[in-house]
Amino acid sequence: MLSQNHLHVSLLYIVLLTGTKYGCGGGGCGACTVMVSKYDQLNNRVLHYTVNACLQPICTLHGAAVVTVEGIGSTKTKLHPVQERIAKAHGSQCGFCTPGMVMSMYTLLRNKPHPTMEDIREALGGNLCRCTGYRPIIDGFKTFCDVSNAFNLFPQNDCVLNKYLIPCQISEELFHMDNVLPLDPSQDLIFPPELMIMGKKRACGSLCFQGDRLKLISPVDLTNLLELKTEYPEAPVVVGNTTIGINLLLCHLLFVIYLLCVHVHAGVSMGAVCTLSSLKEEMERAVREMEAERTRGYQALLQTLQCLAGKQIRNMATIGGNILSANPKYDLNSVLAALDCTLQVMSKENGTRAITLNEELFTGFGKTALRPDEVLLSIDIPYSKPWEFVSAFRQAQRREFAFSIVNAGMKVLFREGTNIVESLNIYYGGVGPTLVKVGRTCQKLVGRSWGEDLLADACRLLEEEVELSDSAHGGKVEYRKTLTTSFFFKFYMQVLQELRERVHIQDSALKPFKNEVPQGHHSFQLVSNAQSSQDPVGHPMMHQAAFHQATGEAQYYDDIPAVQGELFVFMVTSTRAHAKIINIDPSEALGMTGVVTFLSAGDVPGQNRRMLFNNPEELFAEEEVSCVGQIIGAVVAESREQARRAAQMVKVTYQDLLPVFFTIEEAIQHQSFFDPKRKLERGDVDKAFETVDQILEDEIYLGGQEHFYMETQGLIAVYYNFLFECPFVLSLQLQEVVGITLGIDSNKITCHVRRLGGAFGGKVMKIASLSAITATAAVNIINNNCVIRGIFTSAFLTTSFFSQVGYNNDGTIMAADITYYSNGGCTLNESLIMEKALLHMDNGYKIPNLRGRGLVCKTYLPSYTAFRGFGGPQGLMVMESVLHEVAVKCGLPPQKVREINMYREEECYTHHKQLFSPRDMLRCWDECLDKAGYHDRLQAIQQFNTSNRWKKRGISAVPMKFGVGFSKGFFNQGAALVNIYKDGSVLVAHGGTEMGQGINTKALQIASRILKVPMSSIHIKETCTGNVPNAAPSAASFGTDAVGMAVKDACEKLMRRLKPFMENHPKYTWQQWVINQHPPVGYPNAVTVWVSRGPHTDMDWENSEGPAYYYFTFGACCSEVEIDCLTGDHKNLRTDIVMDVGRSLNPALDIGQIEGGFVQGIGLYTIEELQFSLEGVLMTRGPSQYKIPALCDVPPQFNVHLLANAQNPHAIYRSKGIGEPPVFLASTIFFAIKEAVAAARRERGLGDSFPLSSPATAERIRMACEDQFTEMAPSPKKGTFKPWSINI
Ligand SMILES: Cc1cc2nc3c(=O)[nH]c(=O)nc-3n(C[C@H](O)[C@H](O)[C@H](O)COP(=O)(O)OP(=O)(O)OC[C@H]3O[C@@H](n4cnc5c(N)ncnc54)[C@H](O)[C@@H]3O)c2cc1C
Ligand code: FES
Ligand code: FES
Repeated sequence: MLSQNHLHVSLLYIVLLTGTKYGCGGGGCGACTVMVSKYDQLNNRVLHYTVNACLQPICTLHGAAVVTVEGIGSTKTKLHPVQERIAKAHGSQCGFCTPGMVMSMYTLLRNKPHPTMEDIREALGGNLCRCTGYRPIIDGFKTFCDVSNAFNLFPQNDCVLNKYLIPCQISEELFHMDNVLPLDPSQDLIFPPELMIMGKKRACGSLCFQGDRLKLISPVDLTNLLELKTEYPEAPVVVGNTTIGINLLLCHLLFVIYLLCVHVHAGVSMGAVCTLSSLKEEMERAVREMEAERTRGYQALLQTLQCLAGKQIRNMATIGGNILSANPKYDLNSVLAALDCTLQVMSKENGTRAITLNEELFTGFGKTALRPDEVLLSIDIPYSKPWEFVSAFRQAQRREFAFSIVNAGMKVLFREGTNIVESLNIYYGGVGPTLVKVGRTCQKLVGRSWGEDLLADACRLLEEEVELSDSAHGGKVEYRKTLTTSFFFKFYMQVLQELRERVHIQDSALKPFKNEVPQGHHSFQLVSNAQSSQDPVGHPMMHQAAFHQATGEAQYYDDIPAVQGELFVFMVTSTRAHAKIINIDPSEALGMTGVVTFLSAGDVPGQNRRMLFNNPEELFAEEEVSCVGQIIGAVVAESREQARRAAQMVKVTYQDLLPVFFTIEEAIQHQSFFDPKRKLERGDVDKAFETVDQILEDEIYLGGQEHFYMETQGLIAVYYNFLFECPFVLSLQLQEVVGITLGIDSNKITCHVRRLGGAFGGKVMKIASLSAITATAAVNIINNNCVIRGIFTSAFLTTSFFSQVGYNNDGTIMAADITYYSNGGCTLNESLIMEKALLHMDNGYKIPNLRGRGLVCKTYLPSYTAFRGFGGPQGLMVMESVLHEVAVKCGLPPQKVREINMYREEECYTHHKQLFSPRDMLRCWDECLDKAGYHDRLQAIQQFNTSNRWKKRGISAVPMKFGVGFSKGFFNQGAALVNIYKDGSVLVAHGGTEMGQGINTKALQIASRILKVPMSSIHIKETCTGNVPNAAPSAASFGTDAVGMAVKDACEKLMRRLKPFMENHPKYTWQQWVINQHPPVGYPNAVTVWVSRGPHTDMDWENSEGPAYYYFTFGACCSEVEIDCLTGDHKNLRTDIVMDVGRSLNPALDIGQIEGGFVQGIGLYTIEELQFSLEGVLMTRGPSQYKIPALCDVPPQFNVHLLANAQNPHAIYRSKGIGEPPVFLASTIFFAIKEAVAAARRERGLGDSFPLSSPATAERIRMACEDQFTEMAPSPKKGTFKPWSINI
């Protein structure tokens, strides 16, 4: 008997292979991609396609072969070329997405050994990566394209090789593909002959899979299906499982029985069980082979299908499932209904009947008018008639791989030879609980001429007919209303153009953006000729674990094999934002199968409450809860699913308390702030305001961001003989917290971590509490030997700023007074990052009188923590916003105002009186503008904007000065242990955490340089508190600086000891030196604690002074975007970055960090939007609601250059830290969008000073491009309605 889990998710758990990763469990990330091969009886061929293993029920794979990443290559035997190339091209950082990427590409090559770039783009559309920025992955995979093919898509960049690149010192080659394995399809795994034989035979009986809580039956044929549907009318038909599976996994609905329908094909038109991929292929074939006029409807469908979900989902999801899921956010129904499609449905009792696909089919959200015993057989999609025009529209949070906010299908038929409307069909999805037909509007327009009058009336009628209450589910009401008229306007224009010309549309402004693959030019300085060829420092070495990551052999915490008797812990969390806990009743949960125990505050052996930055944090809420999601208790059970289910059965009784508030605005009203409140001041701000030409008051809101690391938080706690181990925890900081919680000394607690599947600041502090809870469970249960696993997710930061700026008419800013508010949630945790925001507020600008105040608001939301950049990107963004506004007010180009205000002298002081030289920042700026061809492009953009009414472009450039290191000097230290063994091999252990940034690779390069042994002879041990104690967090972009110096120190110590012996025996080999030198010194090993020997860092907040940073990393970035003024969609066109990383230790890793950080910044400033309900519940959870940048968001031209001849005396080998700084550079996209919106507004006679909050989502862009359509959807008055979500 299979368990419920096994019936569904399974591949990961049943096969016990670890290469296939579990990221989201909902088809939204692609980490679990595998290839399925099936024999297709109809066409006598074997089909290979990708699926998301997390949604693929194991039962549907009867007769299919599944290939996981382990099946195609391994480091022990031979890598597959796909694995080798992604690794060599530096396309694997944390590696968690890598197996999924590999399988998507592998499957593409199985079907098409010579793919085009477009094929690659499409194949990877359903795979997310949070680390790399996608470009290196594409670079590796494009080597499979025919050279001509690949290079056609890579036009020579007009800007790069210029005066800055002195040929013999600069390289553009981050990797080379000499000696890579060729792709040899003859080596591919064959489809198992026994499955082929099985596939060719007609199935002789139905299959039944019985789980403990559900049952799946696979019918043998249609008759059998109909019989089963009569017997079990309420049972859903599982086909692709992409709707049902999600509900089951995420909402834990229980279905008694399923009918499994995988083999049914019926009708001459599209069978209901055809996948969306096959629908797309059919439509493409028809469009290719038939006259354009007859396939207008198919072209419209293709328009939608191109952006609908990712490839894996399209391979699984069926057309029937899409229709009958009756979800208005699904895209097909509006188009199919507009096309007047007919559905053939059948039941055992009543035979076949045809029904029209229209609004009447849908009786409610998720409900249709089909009778329970009926199944859908096929969908007839008619050809288009002459004089018929069809369009489909969709607008989503992200252009690809995201549910639409509003979708529409529109069809008009004209009286032959005229522009008189004979019939009109307009359907919308996303403006109500079901599909909406605007019948009245359509009816009233019949008989009218397609002209301006019709347009005006249509918009008015649409406004009246599309009813969307101000409190409608999903929010964004004004935007959704605006989209309905904007879509119609687009349709009107498209048809008008076709009517006039009877040819295809020429005006690109009416077409949606085309998704492209990123390409890029990179340059970095080569090492000097004097450097030994054996010395790897400064070379673009591959990530040390990349091959293991690409083959799925790299282990993450969830890959540790299960041990017998291990248990799982799952949290019981508060459902109230502010309440007294009256009672906790776990009795029902404790009675459930597999449940071992329930824990709450009283079970903590040591302290339940600890102080963090002088603010209290509780492990388990004791008396009160102060946010939804606060941990109250934990259930321990034998399986994940049992623990998860039981946690929901724990009954907590609350008594609600007041006040309850969530937003910064409310916190200010309640004066609810955490201590300390920080302030920094230089000059005399108040006095300066008296003498300036102008004073500007401004405000900007910046939304928070989820870390969205692909590997969720988790840990394993082992309690053995009263010693406590956390193999594979996500932070070493937890040792202390576990000790306090359990009341035991740190020397009895060992924490290990090998690698993290991404972290970005989210795995430093929060995991400590979760580990302490898991440890408490281990101690409580058996009180001796116990293994417990826990899985959790993460948090973020939201900020808001108010500023007052004094400036002169020439753009010189004389004074600025900025107050920063951040929403810290219910405990302070790491919201002290406000300090970093204040310390970065000057960016690269010398504002003589500058004051910043930082207040962390205490609200009844979950406590927030830090994200990559630690407040820097927020602090910098505010100053750039100020500069932008001053430029607008002065009527000057923003880049000019930036230049006027930049630090220029060789010796400058920051606003906190830290001495620095801005020379390299100015070099980055000049080179960036030059390489980007900024001035020429600015002109071209102006021209573009003049000739395009509905699409506008904008360009923006910013400089950057980013502090590296901890402002609390104590943290600026690293430790390492280096052992040399008798065989000459070397072991390095250090206190850093590898999370994709390549800290281990750099440590190897450094050790190899000093010891003069190849990197292959050095092994890096997992990070462990037993080897290297008291490690500082790998954060503040300081990880490599600290660890690198420690490794260098340790290796130098060893070499000093070996040196006399080496000099006496110059002819010996390394191993002979090692083995023979021991008397009298002993075999060499060295432990080092390297403590910062550079400038002391500390901040005196009372006096607003202190060297807060070790040094500054500089950079500059220029980005260009195009916006669609009618939908708010935007396309990132090109980005150029010049970054000063000193003398790069590893240009490939550093460029990888820059690109990855920048793309995360794209998310922060343009796409990623957190939405909270009025009750303080986060609604954007998981990839289906929360969108991080996908491949389609990366600028097609993405150039990164490392500043040549840069120096840094303060860090290892003159390099600089680079982890955090690049995130901020993506603000250029935000400001370029703002420029583009301003161009649209100017054309409409509106001012170009207007508010735009970050992220600049499609909704915000559209509503800022005010026009006649936005006027039709005015914002309701505050207080007159209950909004769906709140801006915190
Ligand atoms: C990550 C992700 C992204 C997505 N993005 C999009 C998107 O951008 N746009 C979009 O439109 N959709 C999107 N979808 C939805 C997807 O297209 C639908 O889930 C899919 O089409 C449903 O088909 P299925 O075969 O998987 O249905 P199932 O989940 O197997 O079934 C769905 C429902 O249809 C019923 N059903 C299915 N076939 C029949 C039949 N022949 N007769 C009777 N009843 C039947 C079932 O009983 C069930 O109630 C996305 C889904 C995921 C998971
Ligand atoms: S884990 Fe399957 S798609 Fe995310
Ligand atoms: S390398 Fe892609 S998610 Fe980390």
